[in-house]
Amino acid sequence: MTAALSPIDKAKYIAARRAVEFVEDGMRVGLGTGSTAAWMVRCLGEMVREDGIKITGVATSARTAQLAREVGVPVKTLDEVRWLDLTIDGADEYDADLNLIKGGGGALLHEKIVATASDQMVVIADLSKQVDTLGAFPLPVEVIPFGWQTTKALIEEMLSNVDVLGRSASLRLNGADPFRTDEGNYILDLHLRRIANPAQLSLVLNQIPGVVENGLFLDICDVLVIGNADGTVEVR
Ligand code: 5RP
Repeated sequence: MTAALSPIDKAKYIAARRAVEFVEDGMRVGLGTGSTAAWMVRCLGEMVREDGIKITGVATSARTAQLAREVGVPVKTLDEVRWLDLTIDGADEYDADLNLIKGGGGALLHEKIVATASDQMVVIADLSKQVDTLGAFPLPVEVIPFGWQTTKALIEEMLSNVDVLGRSASLRLNGADPFRTDEGNYILDLHLRRIANPAQLSLVLNQIPGVVENGLFLDICDVLVIGNADGTVEVR
């Protein structure tokens, strides 16, 4: 199955293949969003169709829900399931303490709600996402469309009081229009380059009224599975 894949897709597939070994019959599983998470959903579909395991998926985005249904993974809402045994999701960056930046795919709000409602979060990634200090990847922040320019100005002003290297924010676009999350909100990408104190930044961001949630996932990830293009895998 992996012969035709590009090296990066092979690394993602290898991580996904290993991570689904955490899934047991009867589990309620949070399904992440993104290209790595899509491999995980396909692997789960295979387990449902070929091994006959019974699981219930809770998707973190409309596109993940659609893929899950296509490959045969039954999907329910978080309110139907309430609590999950496990969530498997990708990440845009991870550090040595398993803190993450997420939201490159714009699903950070649902991803954080689902991961927080799970006994365990397993993150799947490749080595290209490893950093010493978070912040090279622009930090996604979900904001309410109402007054977003004022919210952006407040965020940029607040950034002058925290220990980061860059201080600009840009509205994420989808063509000529603002990108919309599944909740209809906008995403501001913060170009920080280096976040010295992620916990402080997360708290301060979430105190700004127009901010819904930010893409820092701190002390949420329990297990990190790193796939490599040579077929090897590391579990931390
Ligand atoms: C989506 C996310 C994704 O997990 C993150 O962007 C990684 O995506 P990919 O696996 O495609 O690199 O947070 O909101």
